Parts: sequence; C-alpha cells; structure tokens
Amino acid sequence: MNKIIYLDAAASALKPKSVMEAEGDFVRNSYANTGRGVCARAALADEMLANARSYVAKFIGAESASGVIFTSGTTDAMNRIVNIICNSREVKTVAVSDLDHHSARMPWENLARNGRVEIVKIPLTDNLDLDYKNMPVADVVVITAMSNVLGVAQNVAEIISAARKNNSNVITIVDAAQYVAHEQINVREWGCDFMCFSGHKIGANTGVGIMYIKDADSFSPDKFGGGMVQTISGDKWNIDSAPNKFEAGTLPLTQIAGLPIAIKEWCTWSGGADIVSYIYDELSKMPRVKLLSVRDAKIISFVVDGMHVLDFGALIGAHNICVRVGNMCASWIHSVMGIDGSVRISVGPWNTMDEAKQVVDVIRGIVK
Ligand SMILES: Cc1ncc(COP(=O)(O)O)c(C=O)c1O
Repeated sequence: MNKIIYLDAAASALKPKSVMEAEGDFVRNSYANTGRGVCARAALADEMLANARSYVAKFIGAESASGVIFTSGTTDAMNRIVNIICNSREVKTVAVSDLDHHSARMPWENLARNGRVEIVKIPLTDNLDLDYKNMPVADVVVITAMSNVLGVAQNVAEIISAARKNNSNVITIVDAAQYVAHEQINVREWGCDFMCFSGHKIGANTGVGIMYIKDADSFSPDKFGGGMVQTISGDKWNIDSAPNKFEAGTLPLTQIAGLPIAIKEWCTWSGGADIVSYIYDELSKMPRVKLLSVRDAKIISFVVDGMHVLDFGALIGAHNICVRVGNMCASWIHSVMGIDGSVRISVGPWNTMDEAKQVVDVIRGIVK
C-alpha cells in the first residue's frame, strides 16, 4: 500500500511526536487532578495547568490568563457561549453570516426556532467576505474569522468596530477554529468579547479547546459543580472567579499538557503557501475543475464538472489521498455558491512538495 497523503489539516491536524511525548510525560510523571489536592503530584498538575493557561493567554494576546477557559473544543465553546451570554444579558437580535460553520450558528438558530431571538445576517461582499461596511444592528455578533471552505482571513477588527458603532453594548464572538492555524490571533487588537478555537486543528489532541472571555467576571457560569465554587453553606454559595467559574468538573488535563507544545511547534511552520499555490495553479489548468477558493487562500476548494463530490472523494481516496468532500458543516456558504458540497484540500506541516506533485497527477487522471 502507498503511503497515505493526508491533505485534511482543516478537519484535524496530525499530531507531532513532541505533543504525544508531552502528554505521555504528564501522564507518567505528574498526573493528578487539578485544583483539589495538596500532595506533590497535585501541585505538579496545578503547575502544568497554570503554565498552559498563561502560554495560551500570551499566544492569543489576552489581557490576562483568567479570561482563558479550557473547553473540549470550538463546538463546545460556541454552545456554551450562548448560555453564558443569555444567563447574563438580554439578547434580542443575533447577527450571523453565511460563512459560519454549523457549530457557530446553529446554537443561536436553535434559540431563534424557539422564538427567543431574532437572527439577522451580516451580508457578504461579491468576493464572499464579511461586508463590514454594511453591518446590521444586533445585540450579539458571530464572526467567522476564516471560513473552513474559502480559507480567507476576515478583517475581524474592522467588523467588530463596525458592530460597536451600531450598538456600543454589542457582544462579539469570534470563531477562530480555522484562523488559528494560519494567522496570529490577537484578541486585544480585535476587541472581541468571546473567541474560541479547538486545539486539534493545530496539532494538539482532540478534546481540548479554548474559550476566551474578555470580561469573564461580568458573566454568569453555564455549568455548575466541582472546582467552580469557593464556599457552600446550606443553599448559599460563593462562586469562584474566572477561570475556575467556567471550569466545573475535571478538565481534559492530558490534552491540555500537550497544547502549549502543539502551539509552539505549529508556530514554527511556514504555512505551506508554496504547496497550496502549486496545487492551485495546477488545478486551474484542468478544464473540468471549478475552483471556489481564491489563489492566496489558505484552503483550496473546488468542484469537478459532471462529477459528484462523493465520487471524487472515493476515487482520490482509492489512491490513499485524504481530502475532505461534502458540505464541510458549512451548508450556508455552499448554498450561496449554488452547490451542495465541494472538495477541500488543506495542508499542514507534514505535507511536502513531492506529495503535492503526486496529488496533482492523481487528480489529473481522475478529471481527464
Ligand atoms: C470554522 C470552524 N468552526 C467550528 C468548527 C468546529 O470545530 P470542532 O469540531 O473542533 O468543535 C470547525 C471545524 O471544522 C471549523 O472549521
């Protein structure tokens, strides 16, 4: 069997050895629960957690580590954010867009279905970017910093500033699940209230993600239980301050131990622009291929004239090449483009130009 060529980084990144080693080291040498014990192992685990939190805070440009909350991933954070906001503020209108992943928009759409909020749309420009010059007025704005289909970084700071001009109390939520893999996040420069990403998209394990909250202590928790309360006496309790307030229960400690190592290693990657542009240029010479993404996007998306994307996926898969086919959990942008699904090629630090050449040859054979 040929070596597998994995071109699905945007779905989940392969894990570097250093991450597996960091996780193994934690499990072997420092493992204990956090925030509960006073023994030596508990102290080591607490130290690991505090260091990981500070590392992430610096990585995202957060004001302080207390606004960095560990979650199980972007979907978890996006669902939790809805409850966190609605537990603390009155929300009537929520602005979403057709660039959104299902995870970012469905939790709000679900409230809209029950008549609890009204959904308004951030329009898209002709280039399918968020049109920040025509932002709607809303109490909450959901911003997809980079679409997982089109791979173009959005101007998050401008979008947030336009949203605030319309409503100075607006709450802004940034989905940085794809952006984190390609661009430097800076929540302070963005001025966002919430931001989230999943560790597995940048080489950390599954089951760990980040939810940044700017004014964490001004929001009420959405989950209750161990580790988030200072004192309980009868039916009275004192809830701890952030981050503990939002971290009820045992955290995915092993995955957290690997996250700073994953970030460090990911940041040494040059981004694979040469591989992406080579594949893009070769695809653009194939008459049946219709490219959906632009040349300097971080992701390549396309459809093949007269071929269902699932058939394309099966044919390329038979050559041990992994690409993503389907609606990518981003149905809305596909319907804007008048299609049900697409083929997506996304690269990571493990991909080589030699693999890119093999992939191009295989695709040429499939679409001839
Ligand atoms: C833009 C975007 N948002 C949200 C998600 C959901 O991430 P997860 O499945 O890690 O929760 C993804 C995953 O593909 C994504 O690309």
